[in-house]
Amino acid sequence: MKGVSKVVFPVAGMGTRFLPATKASPKEMLPVVDKPLIQYAVEEAVAAGATDLVFITGRTKRAIEDHFDKAYELETELVARGKAAMLEVVRNTVPSHVNCIYIRQPEALGLGHAVLCASAVVGDEPFAVMLADDLLHNPEGVPVLKQMVDVYNYHRCSVLGTMNVPREDTRQYGIVSTEAQSGAVQRMTGIVEKPDPASAPTTQAVVGRYILTPRIFDHLRTLTPGAGGELQLTDAIASLLKEEAVLAHQYEGVRYDCGSKLGYLKATVEFGLRHPEVQADFRAYLEGRFAASLAA
Ligand code: UTP
Repeated sequence: MKGVSKVVFPVAGMGTRFLPATKASPKEMLPVVDKPLIQYAVEEAVAAGATDLVFITGRTKRAIEDHFDKAYELETELVARGKAAMLEVVRNTVPSHVNCIYIRQPEALGLGHAVLCASAVVGDEPFAVMLADDLLHNPEGVPVLKQMVDVYNYHRCSVLGTMNVPREDTRQYGIVSTEAQSGAVQRMTGIVEKPDPASAPTTQAVVGRYILTPRIFDHLRTLTPGAGGELQLTDAIASLLKEEAVLAHQYEGVRYDCGSKLGYLKATVEFGLRHPEVQADFRAYLEGRFAASLAA
């Protein structure tokens, strides 16, 4: 089977937790400091060797297409003003050897349905799925999708990115069961979507990174609506597990859940504290801010 060169970005969700910011623009366009979430994900995909990026868009698709497209007027203006550094930033949202493909999901019927919309473009190849609102950061090490592509290249089967979560949070995630209880890469024995803490089989949760074999499309086609009345990718993976090995990879790195307000704020602080342009002033501001509140 071929290597992983195609990455699917489902960006057609409603983003209700971020209304009104997501009324006319997808949540994946929310910036962390100065880059939208989708660009962090695209950079992670390109670092993992992706050459074809497939965006599954919804009613607010224009912003993402425009972001990765050439911006003639803006570029002309930046040239006229002599802003060479900004011109480079604007031109390099996606490298020239990478193709962007846009597919419309006609209705937000769930993540499983969004991934199925990519089947004609993905064809008979393994592919990755990235949820850009999960911002995964591993600044001193290998980016998370690359870690997973390395696992795929060795084992040649589907790989899900996972992390341990507090038991009280299992209702927010797909939760996996595995054969072994330890080790970074484990063979899965089951997966359930959003279990109650009391009935969750483990606390190992799937985050927004998947490498899937094309067999997943057959399982997606026969899905019936699951949790929340949506076509759940988790249910298709549970079905795939009955005929193929699927691995859970506990990635190295830190996850910011930028689909939630608190996770988004944490990401903004952490990335602000590392951003070369603002880090010194931002640190001074935070230190002053907390000194003032401790003194109060
Ligand atoms: P979420 O469960 O985070 O839903 O979707 P959401 O609509 O984006 O956000 P909230 O919960 O209303 O605030 C997980 C991922 O699946 C995509 C979303 O864009 C997100 O990346 N998705 C979800 C689709 O592309 N289509 C769908 O029909 C549903």
